[in-house]
Amino acid sequence: MGESDYGCVIDQMRLSDDVPWTLPVLLQVEEGPDAKDGDELLLRSEEGAPAAVIGYEGTFRIDKKEYASKVFGTEDQAHPGVAKVYSSTGLAVSGRLKVVGRQDPGTYAEYTLSPKETRVLFAEKGWQTVVAFQTRNAPHINHEYLQKSALALVDGLFVNPVLGKKKPGDFKDEVIVDAYKALIGQYYPRNSVVMSVLHYEMQYAGPKEAIMHAIMRKNFGCTHIIIGRDHAGVGNYYRPYAAQEIFGEFPDLGIAPMFFREFYYCTKCAGIASEKTCPHGEEDRLNFSGTKLRKMFGEGEVPPKEFMRPEVAQAILAHRQPFVE
Ligand code: ADX
Repeated sequence: MGESDYGCVIDQMRLSDDVPWTLPVLLQVEEGPDAKDGDELLLRSEEGAPAAVIGYEGTFRIDKKEYASKVFGTEDQAHPGVAKVYSSTGLAVSGRLKVVGRQDPGTYAEYTLSPKETRVLFAEKGWQTVVAFQTRNAPHINHEYLQKSALALVDGLFVNPVLGKKKPGDFKDEVIVDAYKALIGQYYPRNSVVMSVLHYEMQYAGPKEAIMHAIMRKNFGCTHIIIGRDHAGVGNYYRPYAAQEIFGEFPDLGIAPMFFREFYYCTKCAGIASEKTCPHGEEDRLNFSGTKLRKMFGEGEVPPKEFMRPEVAQAILAHRQPFVE
């Protein structure tokens, strides 16, 4: 992303040609390359394989404080996205990128479908409407209800967990994949769900990241995306439904968000309920914080079935250390 697109993205949440785009995508380097405008430079993967060619257009410096406050809404370095910005070099390369070769899907080749492949697959299945589910977690029952509530209204469900670098305390990639295999195998009708993983680094940018999540799923051929409570959030940096409100600014996105209030297990309703459908108070809810869950799994305990399917819990417990350290 060049300097003018970068400026438009952080100030207006659009590229300079007005296309919705809420997060910068920068190539940052230690020092500028020994090259002149118009040169073609080869970018290599960490393993040394050719990855892309960039038509070099110069370098520019970013103001990290401005980046943090405009993109994440905070300059607090306890925010993992902000910390990453502050630890970057701040020197970005501009230029048009041409991807060369095929990216290695790594260990999850059989669960890695390209946007072309998912589009063909959805068409073969005869799905006109497909709802995407973004997630960075192993699934608990509330996630399942969210997905099934949305699926009731469309032809197909695209479960698209994010694999890649995450923050300590998040589930590891292999745990998420195993947990979803267990859930889908036991509790989902085969012909209405597709699971494929997305190799992407979470930024925890809440509302702004929700828009990027939607754009990526539009690319995969989805017509809808689920946006629930505190989508792509971390800590208390974003209001619980900020990631829903922001969609009002993007009538031209080309993918429709499906909004849901918080789902939870209500002891009075004796089932999964939502803030929208259940009249009972917080004291009647089964509450499971991430911290409590990590403690339970750490001690080899299975959470109650009102919170997590036993097969999913077993798939998680099969890993000695299920969380990123
Ligand atoms: S996220 O970072 O990918 O958003 P997570 O995997 O927990 O985290 O959430 C995936 C999606 O489910 C998001 O749209 C989020 O808002 C939604 N979600 C998660 N838990 C709940 C819940 N209990 N009630 C409603 N929505 C939820």
